[in-house]
Amino acid sequence: MFDRLNEQPADKILSLMSAFRADPRKNKIDLGVGVYKDATGNTPVMRAVREAERRLVEAQTTKAYVALAGDPAFGDAMIALVLGDAVPRAQVAAITTPGGTGAVRQAFELVRMANPAAKVWASDPTWPNHLSIVRHLGIGLESYRYFDAATRGLDIDGMLADLGRVAPGDVVLLHGCCHNPTGANPTADDWARIIAVVKDRGALPMVDLAYQGFGDGLDDDAAATRAVAAAFPECLIAASCSKNFGIYRERTGILMAVMQDAGRREVVQGNLAYLNRQNYSFPPDHGARVVTTILNDPDLRADWEAELEDIRKGMLTLRSQLADELKRLTNSDRFEFIRQHRGMFSRLGASPEQVAALRETHGIYMVGDSRINIAGLNRDTVPVLARAIIDAGV
Ligand code: LMR
Repeated sequence: MFDRLNEQPADKILSLMSAFRADPRKNKIDLGVGVYKDATGNTPVMRAVREAERRLVEAQTTKAYVALAGDPAFGDAMIALVLGDAVPRAQVAAITTPGGTGAVRQAFELVRMANPAAKVWASDPTWPNHLSIVRHLGIGLESYRYFDAATRGLDIDGMLADLGRVAPGDVVLLHGCCHNPTGANPTADDWARIIAVVKDRGALPMVDLAYQGFGDGLDDDAAATRAVAAAFPECLIAASCSKNFGIYRERTGILMAVMQDAGRREVVQGNLAYLNRQNYSFPPDHGARVVTTILNDPDLRADWEAELEDIRKGMLTLRSQLADELKRLTNSDRFEFIRQHRGMFSRLGASPEQVAALRETHGIYMVGDSRINIAGLNRDTVPVLARAIIDAGV
């Protein structure tokens, strides 16, 4: 049987990790995978996470199964963090999932189960794994324009025009904040127009919220997701704790199904739990318990929010430094978009050849579409990157 398997294409983001590790150059710079790094290149365990883990180790008396949907306290805490008071709790069904990717996968499985004819509409570009999972599940895929290659900002007119062609019942996949890979995001006005069009088409929005707290702050970053949840009869939200709690390897995420008809909640909840059972039975618990401990303890929560703010502001400072340096070198505003973008990523708009030259000549690693991870920089490497960008002719 195994001889019938074909090789799978390497994941474009993850394969960069091994290429970077294999590069012997000392001054190489890793701007690839979306993992936060501090100025020394370390991905720290957040203070509140360390303390929550200490308390858990001391207090935990069993590792017995919890529940198919995960610990209800995690669901409550995360629903409050993401949705605020946008919708009553009774209108939300939720399951704990292995990371945000697990939530995305379960969401698409739910779509396929409930409406096999539905297509998924994804932004062009989007996180490559969105497309890969949709294809893997055999779901129809369409794309809508998103990125304006000239301004490196949002192509809102193209986006609205394409969303105007979505069929009723189709799923429109939206990045709640900090668009991956471009860093370009809709304004609040843009979001109102996006919501109006998608609603008018009778489509189902699905929000992927992987970077809450990395853009403009915890509440601002959730504003679009909350607006979507309040506006539609039904929506899906996949949220990740990997980045904002820095617990990547613990695989902690949540899928929420929000509905106006609270009478459907029990059935939807049962279907979500069913999907967990089919795919991996009980979801991982440790990361979820750490998150719950932090969110429900005022001191730990305040410390987590403070550290997250430092991380967010540090990335904004790096954006400003890079934009300033490029302004100085080019004597132009061509790279101002780097200051405007939000989250970990910016798409530079370099060609694949320029990306290859940056890697070969300068040891600077970024994704092939010229996405850089801002957090991979520090004060010393910003001028190096700026100079290399100009040298490569970007
Ligand atoms: C990224 O986009 O780099 C991250 O979301 C990590 C991943 O799994 O691709």
